[in-house]
Amino acid sequence: MTPHGRTCIDLFCGCGGLTLGMQRAGFHVLAAIDSNPEAVETLRSNLVQRKHHDLIPVAHALERDLCAFEPAELASLLGVSHVDVIVGGPPCQGFSTARQVDGANHGARLKPDPRRDLYREFLRYVDFFQPDVFVIENVLGIRSASGGEYFTRVQKEARELGHAAGRPGYRVHTQVENAWELGVPQKRQRQLIIGVRNDLPGYFLPDLKPAPRAQPYTCLGPAIGDLPIVRAGGGKDERDYDPAYRLRHVVKWSDAARNYLFKVLQIDQAAKLTNHVARPHSDRDLRDFARLKEGENSKEAMRDRGVVLNLSRLRRGLRFATSVVVLPEIAHREFERERT
Ligand SMILES: C[S@@+](CC[C@H](N)C(=O)[O-])C[C@H]1O[C@@H](n2cnc3c(N)ncnc32)[C@H](O)[C@@H]1O
Repeated sequence: MTPHGRTCIDLFCGCGGLTLGMQRAGFHVLAAIDSNPEAVETLRSNLVQRKHHDLIPVAHALERDLCAFEPAELASLLGVSHVDVIVGGPPCQGFSTARQVDGANHGARLKPDPRRDLYREFLRYVDFFQPDVFVIENVLGIRSASGGEYFTRVQKEARELGHAAGRPGYRVHTQVENAWELGVPQKRQRQLIIGVRNDLPGYFLPDLKPAPRAQPYTCLGPAIGDLPIVRAGGGKDERDYDPAYRLRHVVKWSDAARNYLFKVLQIDQAAKLTNHVARPHSDRDLRDFARLKEGENSKEAMRDRGVVLNLSRLRRGLRFATSVVVLPEIAHREFERERT
């Protein structure tokens, strides 16, 4: 089935990653909505105002708080009360395992975070527009946050959506995707939650393929090696690309670089290199980064080099600690003690 002529809305659209994917798949994105003004402005200038020959421009890029903006208001703006697909990536900070150190998102120390409930705004739109299919994209942490409570809740509430009013609800399917297998040069996994309206035949794509222009397992070197090197804390908000540098890069990495830069990023459509700025790091972090091998993280480095943490010392340290946030500091000292 070709999606051409099919309609879509993107909720929590950010600056438009999912929107662009849907456009490239041939969908007409009727509305992309986010509360962040800079994100909406970016989406507007890239996907509404700029003309791409092969994409249908987004009809409306809206800066709205989805907790306050009603689906009925959107319907009257669009002049439709049904769309074929709704996609969205509700904020993931409330589930991210990056906040696991202090237990903020997981386990006994789970902290309240209203962002974990934003999926309900998404489902409110699904209930109103009754799309054939919806797709929620999130971090893997949603599976484990609060002992899996939210992951179960999203699915259960979607299954039962509109039942009280006699609507069919959704068959819900979840799957994890590895970004690098789909041609994204990142070691990143994403949780998809896919719903198909219950009155439609079952249709799932259990095995996603990379987009036609993407090559799976593209490494970081060919993907970003055309950019000038920046030091920690350095870089510029805007500068010119260096075509001679890029040419040397493409010669070095050949097809992988050519494909990623020109087909995936469409780099030749960008007039300037923007936001090529590195975050600052302490001297200690920089020293430790320099010690890591390619692809290694600090946990693997300690394991592979036989560094064993002295847990009794760690525990003694913790007795005097005001917060468990000091744990990495203590671990680091232990690391140093063992190494020297
Ligand atoms: C994970 S990002 C979405 C990324 C996007 N799907 C993409 O592909 O680029 C989550 C977005 O939700 C937005 N957001 C958070 N709370 C919101 C709210 N109450 N209403 C609308 N947008 C909100 C944030 O501004 C952020 O851009």
